[in-house]
Amino acid sequence: MKDMKKWKVAIVGCGDIAEHTYMPHMHRNVQAEVTACCDLKPERTALFQEQFGIKRAYSTVDELLANEDFEILMDTASIPAHYEINMKALKAGKHLYSQKPIGLSVEQATDMIETAKAAGLVFSASPIHMLRNDIREAKRIIDGGLIGKVTLARAMAAHGGPEYFQYRVNDPSWFYEPGAGALYDLGVHALHMVTGLLGPAREVSCTAAVSSPARLVRSGNFNGKPIESNKLFDNYLIHLNFGGGTIADIVTGFCVKATTAPSLEIYGEYGSIIFTDDPRNPLALYIDEPDRKIRGWIEPRPQERPEPEFFQCGCIADLINAIENRRPSGLPPEHARHVIDLICNIEQSAHDGQVHKLTTTF
Ligand SMILES: NC(=O)c1ccc[n+]([C@@H]2O[C@H](COP(=O)([O-])OP(=O)(O)OC[C@H]3O[C@@H](n4cnc5c(N)ncnc54)[C@H](O)[C@@H]3O)[C@@H](O)[C@H]2O)c1
Repeated sequence: MKDMKKWKVAIVGCGDIAEHTYMPHMHRNVQAEVTACCDLKPERTALFQEQFGIKRAYSTVDELLANEDFEILMDTASIPAHYEINMKALKAGKHLYSQKPIGLSVEQATDMIETAKAAGLVFSASPIHMLRNDIREAKRIIDGGLIGKVTLARAMAAHGGPEYFQYRVNDPSWFYEPGAGALYDLGVHALHMVTGLLGPAREVSCTAAVSSPARLVRSGNFNGKPIESNKLFDNYLIHLNFGGGTIADIVTGFCVKATTAPSLEIYGEYGSIIFTDDPRNPLALYIDEPDRKIRGWIEPRPQERPEPEFFQCGCIADLINAIENRRPSGLPPEHARHVIDLICNIEQSAHDGQVHKLTTTF
């Protein structure tokens, strides 16, 4: 333990997720220390320095890269800024964890993946679902054949909009501007979970609508501010075809004020897996075993403890472990690229009404 290296991390984008999800828990990553922060808004870096004791602050990524000695860049900036920040980090030889989506096109994702590979850097891509115990347990159940061939998956990743309930310090209007939107912010979660469990999709189609073209911020510092939300779809019904008789249905958008629907359901020829969203009993499993004449529901007892409070910071623990053991990240950017491929084709299908074929895999 005495010789354990402490890796220097710089965080770029001192917004909502950095303040509330990562920074309060980063110190529990015994092998990581956030030594610098960076944001276009000086009031945000000032707050981070004061609240989290970060030594140095920068207002641009160029300034950070030119002046700070560190090894890992954590990109938690707004979605449209990711590609530029990520490319600069990789070109400067930094290992990288990027919030989702890592870029806005398959070409951008390939660019980053190849730059990281050529430089021998570990590149880890949000979201964190494939490191979750419940997702990994579901994957073990599926891969072990307990529910037979998967026939259908249903996923729901929707809420009432970032302006509705997230009590944001920053103005949430950017979520409704081109380069952002519900699909990139929220649909990405369901797409990652479903493809993470079932593998790459072959075809996609979508019906989408602008259902709430004008909104009012209902929480946080900008409470009461109107938002024009008519430029992007905010309500999506997505259909995926994996080939071999396996299909999936995904609901996503910023038009669901509240729901009790499970976030994910997987149906197989011999059973079902339902995500309960209860951290102590995260899965309900139905099995139908014709040979043993047993059918019914069980609550599989998790083999691992529920995720700790600081689980989201596990992305950095995984990244450091990958660097030290010369293995790929547990959150591979090739998976993220497939999801970006899906997102781009979903948008096109929503406009042209056609079924689109995917070109990427992972
Ligand atoms: N907030 C959440 O609950 C949440 C959850 C999951 C994922 N995310 C993701 O995290 C990312 C950030 O979201 P957020 O909610 O924290 O947004 P936010 O608007 O609160 O914060 C984004 C911050 O990035 C800064 N920024 C933008 N461009 C920059 C640049 N070029 N250089 C440096 N700083 C820059 C902005 O000034 C702002 O402070 C997005 O990818 C989002 O999808 C957020």
